[in-house]
Amino acid sequence: MRMIKSIKELREALCGERNKNKTIGLVPTMGFLHEGHMSLVDRAKQTCDIVVMSIFVNPIQFGPNEDLASYPRDLERDTALASARGVDYLFTPSVSEMYPTVNKTTVTVSDVTESLCGASRPGHFDGVATVVTKLFNIVQPAYAFFGMKDAQQVAIIMQMVDDLNMPVTIVPCPIVREKDGLALSSRNVYLNEEQRRQALVLSRAINEAKDAYAGGEKSAEALKELIVSVISHSPLADIDYVEIRNYPSLTEAAIISGQEVLIALAVRFGNTRLIDNTVLSPVKEEAACFAQ
Ligand code: PAF
Repeated sequence: MRMIKSIKELREALCGERNKNKTIGLVPTMGFLHEGHMSLVDRAKQTCDIVVMSIFVNPIQFGPNEDLASYPRDLERDTALASARGVDYLFTPSVSEMYPTVNKTTVTVSDVTESLCGASRPGHFDGVATVVTKLFNIVQPAYAFFGMKDAQQVAIIMQMVDDLNMPVTIVPCPIVREKDGLALSSRNVYLNEEQRRQALVLSRAINEAKDAYAGGEKSAEALKELIVSVISHSPLADIDYVEIRNYPSLTEAAIISGQEVLIALAVRFGNTRLIDNTVLSPVKEEAACFAQ
């Protein structure tokens, strides 16, 4: 695995790969890697000749009161994990490499950014869309791999790629969970033992909603009420939102009648905000995916 910090050096190296007709895949991350990220690498390796992983804690997607300073980082461990999993290029630019001057250009995707996490985290998705555009321009991947844990992020990036005719195929990959159901996230390390135990209520609530839907409940309001009532059994859980929306348009869904819908939750445990979701699909059921 080659480690590269400079945009110029990465471009030169990838130009060489493209000249050899290699297909390039990008796995963009903010590091502190876990099995969720590794599943993206596995998927990228199935599709592409060359896998580039970026590790960059993107300051412009954090709000002023968010966890930019404390966001978990461990580049040594990440390097070992990425290399063992077969990443070809690990791109770890500094903030000054990515933003040498104050950005005067921001990529804003309207509509799909306004609900769910976009409503709770103003400006967050502008930061995501801007850095992902920069990474696409730097790496010029044929494919880019994103986890469905951030289902809204996937919808936004697909919209952006479509709207701006970006020559990249977005590959959404299933959520990876701990054996007990907790969706993997770099932020899970913030949880204390009791919060970690109570955080299982997220996947439990989603599963109960899925069961109710399978049992014939088609009202989004009724499913939301069920989720809220399951979560309210955990005294440490403070609900940010519970939403049921058409996917990937993220328009409101009142009745689920054969269309693809996203059930999405954001819940705080102390200062830690966790998200989880599932996509109810009439045709394809989300394959369960668990960490090894
Ligand atoms: O999902 C993430 O880790 C980040 O939002 C991303 C896509 C790497 C952009 O910083």
